[in-house]
Amino acid sequence: MTTPASPKILFVCLGNICRSPAAEGVFKHFLQQQAHAESIFVDSAGTIGFHQGKPADARMRKAAQSRNIQLTSRARQVCRGDLDRFDLVVAMDRSNLEDLKDLHPNPSAQLIMLGACLPNQQHAVLGPDVPDPYYGGEDGFEHVLNMLEEACEGLWQRLK
Ligand code: 4NP
Repeated sequence: MTTPASPKILFVCLGNICRSPAAEGVFKHFLQQQAHAESIFVDSAGTIGFHQGKPADARMRKAAQSRNIQLTSRARQVCRGDLDRFDLVVAMDRSNLEDLKDLHPNPSAQLIMLGACLPNQQHAVLGPDVPDPYYGGEDGFEHVLNMLEEACEGLWQRLK
């Protein structure tokens, strides 16, 4: 159980079936390994509602499962209120970030790109895009998971 003071983090991509549910799963898994699963509330959403209610893409679930990471979330669309309710909203790419700024020009949440948490980004707001694997092959999913694992470590360092 989280406490009222627990930071709330929302990962956002376009469809909420590939990158952001994977980021949610990877970060929750990472927190469990650090014995900090209770200390941070983690969720994900998409800028479009097209896949509302669906589980994460089967290819991403399979790739994550092979790393012992279960993706259990269901897709939902991000709403304006999320940008005030969450403390930190983490976009997967520049286009997601721009869509979030359009949704709420003056959010309470801090908005950053996950790529800004990769090594050597020095706590920037912007960073490399996490590429969309949806239309590509299997290695795209592995590449995304590698990036997410690396960036989640950086995100944790940033939060500490
Ligand atoms: P995601 O990938 O943004 O990482 O969830 C996508 C999933 C679905 C679509 C686009 C991107 N789509 O257009 O349906």
